[in-house]
Formats: sequence, structure tokens, C-alpha cells
Amino acid sequence: MSELLLLNGPNLGILGRREPEIYGTDTLDDIVAAVGAEVAERGWKVVSVQRESEGQLIEAVHDAYEGVGAIVNPGALMIAGWGLRDALAAYPRPWIEVHLSNVWARETFRHESVLAPIASGVIVGLGSLGYRLAAQALLAKVPRP
Ligand code: DQA
Repeated sequence: MSELLLLNGPNLGILGRREPEIYGTDTLDDIVAAVGAEVAERGWKVVSVQRESEGQLIEAVHDAYEGVGAIVNPGALMIAGWGLRDALAAYPRPWIEVHLSNVWARETFRHESVLAPIASGVIVGLGSLGYRLAAQALLAKVPRP
């Protein structure tokens, strides 16, 4: 079965109870289910990986080369996650960067992403809907076999 990597970085495993006024009330499980529902018609299986450390996220990227693509919310690693950036630069599939919040409406340290320049696309500020839209974008970008 074709696998879609849903990669979430630090502090995203506590979605639902993490600053809900900023990140909403959906949990990561809700998001995994929503993405799964989007891609089910294509027969894609969602592989959800959330880790607090960059090295483990890098390993998940290495393990996903045979998949169809990835949705990546790097959390604060957007700011200086150079190792993750290099892993994604070598990743041979399309991938979409997602941020729940509108990072440009927030503190200036969130205004730069070291990942965004190499992403297939970037979705910010639409809450958990952003993950579903990213899934739709990958469905459109990945050719049917
Ligand atoms: C975030 C935005 C980041 O700046 C922050 O560090 C996060 C979450 C978002 O989804 O809005 O952890 O990636």
C-alpha cells in the first residue's frame, strides 16, 4: 500500500491542550484521522510520526523514501532545523510544509523557515484544515500509477 508520511515536530503531540486559542482544539489523532479520510479513496495509508527531537524526525524521513509524499509540520524546527532541512532536501518525493497558526502574524522569530524554500508548497494559518488541504495537494501532485 502507498504510504503518506505525516511528520510532526516538537510539541505537536499535545495538540488539543496546547494553547488552543492559537492551535485549535483538534488533537493530533483527529488530524491523522482527517488526513486518512482525505487520502483513503486513493488507497494511501497515513504513517504518522511525531517526535520531540530532530534526529528522530530525520530518521523518519530516511525511512519514507518509498512512500508517495509527506506533510511536514516542523514546529519550531522551522527556525533552525538545518539537519531536517538537509534530510528533506534529499527526500525524493513531494512534501508540503504546514503550520496551524499564521506564523507571519506572530513573533518575528517565527517569520523565517529554513524548510519552506525547498518545500513543494506551504500552508499556514488555516488550523487543522491546513493538513487536509496539504493532503489534497499531494493527491493532485502525485501521478496515479
Ligand atoms: C507551528 C508554528 C511554530 O512557530 C511553532 O513553533 C509550533 C507550531 C504551527 O503549526 O503553527 O510548534 O509550527
